[in-house]
Amino acid sequence: NTAPITSIANIGTHVGQTVTVRGWLYNLRASGKLLFPIFRDGTGTIQGIVPKAAVSPEVFDTLKDLQLESSLTVTGKVRADSRAPSGYELDVEDVKVQQAVRADQPFPITLKEHGPDFLMEHRHLWMRTPRQSAILRVRATIMRAAAEFFDTQDFTRTDPPILTPAACEGTSELFEMKYFDEGNAYLTQSGQLYIEATALALGKVYSFGPTFRAEKSKTRRHLTEFWMIEPEVAYADLDDLMVLAENFLTHIVTRVLEKHRIDLKTITGAEDKAAKLEKISAPFPRVSYDDAHAMLEKAFAEGLIEKPHVYGDDFGAPDETYISNQFDRPVMVHRYPAEVKAFYMQPDPKDPTKALCVDVLAPEGYGEIIGGSQRVDDYDLLKERILSHGLPLEAFEWYLDLRKYGSVPHSGFGMGIERCVAWICGLDHVRETIPFARTLNRIYP
Ligand code: 4AD
Ligand code: MG
Repeated sequence: NTAPITSIANIGTHVGQTVTVRGWLYNLRASGKLLFPIFRDGTGTIQGIVPKAAVSPEVFDTLKDLQLESSLTVTGKVRADSRAPSGYELDVEDVKVQQAVRADQPFPITLKEHGPDFLMEHRHLWMRTPRQSAILRVRATIMRAAAEFFDTQDFTRTDPPILTPAACEGTSELFEMKYFDEGNAYLTQSGQLYIEATALALGKVYSFGPTFRAEKSKTRRHLTEFWMIEPEVAYADLDDLMVLAENFLTHIVTRVLEKHRIDLKTITGAEDKAAKLEKISAPFPRVSYDDAHAMLEKAFAEGLIEKPHVYGDDFGAPDETYISNQFDRPVMVHRYPAEVKAFYMQPDPKDPTKALCVDVLAPEGYGEIIGGSQRVDDYDLLKERILSHGLPLEAFEWYLDLRKYGSVPHSGFGMGIERCVAWICGLDHVRETIPFARTLNRIYP
């Protein structure tokens, strides 16, 4: 067998040729003397056609009884077919089975509906199905595009530690562990405090890594372990940060549209997600917290939302959903009450009860995907904030140093990759956005 090996994604470059694909049997339909196997190889799926008369009896019989998810190499001639989802079909000539799944132990994920608990319990196998594989491919592109955006704009990637001596985003959601004789350490909630230091060393920096929060709530948006990409920029103010955020998200969406139109179809079915994503371009609308509150007040008066929003409170998930539904692209809500936000946010000089911060809410009710702010750059104010938030001063001495030696205005944000994937792929739950989700009640597999 001298046929060239190809991936299914590239099979269109081999029309009329005989090629070999190495993969697995995803599906099999038989109709008399015809078999219609569907093969997958991780890059896509392709339907094969196997007329009994066209192959050797052994090949036909082997395939006819093969269990789904058996591994195999298949050789066949590529034919363009406009009815096929990928645009191509394979006229099968030969099949070599690598490992046959036993008939008495069939692949547990079938085409029938399974509940989410069953699927998560079998996540190691569930991820083989075309929709889940497509999501993971889109995730990979989002991660690459996110890093590429900063890499190509003179940002230096600086990796913060994962084991930390103190909280970044509030003490209630910390994973705590013993750390030799030093007492306790915590898994990082965000690399921000550390990249504020690297930003003052290198100017424009970003970090990209796993972050951890002991979220005790079961929601569609929260994981206990998730990946965050965080830029931090010396001399940038809140307005600069909002421009950075809109260009960043636009870049990611552009890359996904370039590469993943078939995957988006596989993921979202009939819905034309690509058409919605094509609308994503800068500038994004900017709405102040006060104006967002006014929108919610009006919506409540008109019976469009169930609960009134209390001025001064953070927005709940239904509030964010309502606000984001008013726009066809992400909306940037800025200047929240300082009280509901983190200790490190710079107060607005025009109204010090407000913080110079921004949350970017994704369209279609996906809620917050980015949170960021300008940072307190004054030593005394920052020290006062640390104390008034009941944080241990000793753990923050180094952070305060940054305000002692050449402090400058600086700003940054964090985007949770999983929230972004859920929005771009139109998923109901973040558990499908990462190979192995970690949530309150699951740490297996
Ligand atoms: O808004 P957050 O808490 O901001 C920070 O951590 C800042 N220190 C970032 C910075 O300014 N450098 O979190 C940032 C983003 C959220 O907008 C959301 O996308 C994601 O992280 N996120 C989560 N994603 C999944 N599960 C969770 N439990 C998440 N918590 C936050
Ligand atoms: Mg936030």
